Amino acid sequence: MNTTLDGKVALVTGAALGIGEATARELAARGAAVLVTDVLDPAGEKVARAIRKGGGKAAFRHLDVSDSREWRKAVNAAVRKFGRLDILVNNAGIGTYPDVESETVEGWNRLIAINQTGVWLGMKYAVPAMRTAGGGAIVNVSSIFGAVGGFGGSIAYHASKGAVRLMTKNAAIRYATENIRVNSMHPGFIDTPMIVEVKGTDTEALILANTPMGRLGRPEEIASAIAFLVSDDASYVTGSELYADGGWTAR
Ligand SMILES: NC(=O)c1ccc[n+]([C@@H]2O[C@H](COP(=O)([O-])OP(=O)(O)OC[C@H]3O[C@@H](n4cnc5c(N)ncnc54)[C@H](O)[C@@H]3O)[C@@H](O)[C@H]2O)c1
Repeated sequence: MNTTLDGKVALVTGAALGIGEATARELAARGAAVLVTDVLDPAGEKVARAIRKGGGKAAFRHLDVSDSREWRKAVNAAVRKFGRLDILVNNAGIGTYPDVESETVEGWNRLIAINQTGVWLGMKYAVPAMRTAGGGAIVNVSSIFGAVGGFGGSIAYHASKGAVRLMTKNAAIRYATENIRVNSMHPGFIDTPMIVEVKGTDTEALILANTPMGRLGRPEEIASAIAFLVSDDASYVTGSELYADGGWTAR
């Protein structure tokens, strides 16, 4: 077991809530110094403070992942504050429901800017810092809906998550000989603020009926899988996709 992340520096996006928050806490608990980033400043500050209070190393920085200038500054801030950058978790994302015909150009462009362009920008700015550090590990958070068509809605979400899945493989090949591993994480339905609207509705019942384990996942169950992917335990794992979905995609 090599799951310790002692001495490593990580940047996690969308880390104020949900899966990102759990991931920031998990990586810090395993010894990494974590730059917690989000557009929700007070909530993000709170996560970093809680990690420090528990004896971990963390700082918060505002980062809208769709903004390339903010990306450049955030990566510089991680290196300035903690000395290097070894780990990037491209987690930030939004979900929307419109299907092929009801989606608007504005809705499409906004979601793609965050979920898809944001992931590319993260890799673009983090890789040079990782190269300086002698290598690194990137996890791009996709979804089960980056691989299957779901319920036939959320066209932009599916497009973005499918793109994240394939950008991951492309980048994995590009950096395979530079000791920079790139993998995608594919959660099923996880109990976070993202799905709060469906809790207690017929949609939740439909989700549970389609999940062989018959329950939602917990953010910590995704965080531990991400911690594996960024650790040296996964030293020969690159370009792969890890599903933590209660069996959804096994059907
Ligand atoms: N919850 C699920 O069921 C589920 C399933 C599959 C995949 N995912 C993916 O996991 C990731 C995290 O989802 P979650 O459930 O924790 O969602 P969440 O809504 O609970 O948290 C998302 C976080 O991203 C932040 N964010 C939104 N726009 C941003 C931007 N432009 N720049 C930076 N941060 C931004 C939010 O402020 C929030 O803190 C997303 O990429 C999501 O698509 C979630």
